Amino acid sequence: MTISDRKQEHLKLAHQLFDPKKRNDFDRMHLVAPALPETYVDQNILQVEINHKRLAAPFFIEAMTGGNKQSQEINRHLARIAAKTNIAMALGSASLLEKHPERLESFLVARQENPDGVLLANVNPNTNPELAQKLVTALNADALQIHVNVPQEIVMPEGDRDFLWLKNMDAIRQAVNVPVIVKAVGFGFDHQSLMRLKAHHYEWIDVGGRGGTNFVAIENQRGHHSYDYLQDLGLSTIQSLVLGENTGLQFIASGGVRQPLDIIKSLALGAHGVGIANTFLETLRSQGEEGLFNQIQNWKQQLASLIAMFGAQRLSDLTKSTFYFDADFEQELMHLKKQA
Ligand SMILES: Cc1cc2nc3c(=O)[nH]c(=O)nc-3n(C[C@H](O)[C@H](O)[C@H](O)COP(=O)(O)O)c2cc1C
Repeated sequence: MTISDRKQEHLKLAHQLFDPKKRNDFDRMHLVAPALPETYVDQNILQVEINHKRLAAPFFIEAMTGGNKQSQEINRHLARIAAKTNIAMALGSASLLEKHPERLESFLVARQENPDGVLLANVNPNTNPELAQKLVTALNADALQIHVNVPQEIVMPEGDRDFLWLKNMDAIRQAVNVPVIVKAVGFGFDHQSLMRLKAHHYEWIDVGGRGGTNFVAIENQRGHHSYDYLQDLGLSTIQSLVLGENTGLQFIASGGVRQPLDIIKSLALGAHGVGIANTFLETLRSQGEEGLFNQIQNWKQQLASLIAMFGAQRLSDLTKSTFYFDADFEQELMHLKKQA
């Protein structure tokens, strides 16, 4: 099976396994809405600045695809929507360009559709640093995500078996002239790995936590059910953010974000931005470009309303909001933190 076939299957299975009602750890965290917040709803407070570009909101379209004709079309639609709504967008892994340089077009389309927007490139940790730099230049990317996905590789019969990644990741970081974000793909980040990254001078982490798209389930569904028992593996987005507190690292939240309230909870836990992958892809699938455009505009409005309701007048105020966890979840978190 070629990498391109595999990506096609990922798209199909992510769709088949999508469950918008699935409960996750965001449901075990509760924000308190003050009865008298003394705030007002202001859409402008959602704005954030990245690389001297002003964006309309702190949430973005997370890394998904590229590499074949179907994903080129998906990237085209997503990039148009990102441009119209003025939110950032990350592209799927471009590491396949090492073997198939002719597929660059399926990624470049995103820059063509959104010349002035914020665009993040994405590679795997084994990528040739020179290719990573060429990719960043070709896309005029504003940042580069390096994704780490050990459980997914393990479950794939054709996956990597060598996870000595840091040396090449450091070389990639040295080769590129944009900020690097180390990103998980739905298994989250443990404290030890965060500290390892910090010791190697990484600053930005996209926690990519458990709770949404599940690549163990996707790979098992592809026919090799040998690792069915690993479906619950990983740390959730909330667990990862809590483990990241006081590390001095900067966080982006993603994994299992289903609605604006999940964004607010992520921001309350200190995330600077929030990525949404499959939920947006599903809307694009079922309702087309206009449907996703409407959803994002609606989320912006709701986000501004929720921020006022929870007593904040600036995005950064959200970290001061009152919240609590379900008792059993609080215990889990305390246990995790104690071991950190
Ligand atoms: C179809 C599909 C393809 C993906 N491909 C990539 C990828 O190439 N690189 C990457 O870092 N993450 C990839 N992801 C993972 C997402 O960026 C994200 O971390 C994960 O899906 C969890 O977010 P979600 O619950 O909002 O879907 C992919 C996700 C989906 C659904």
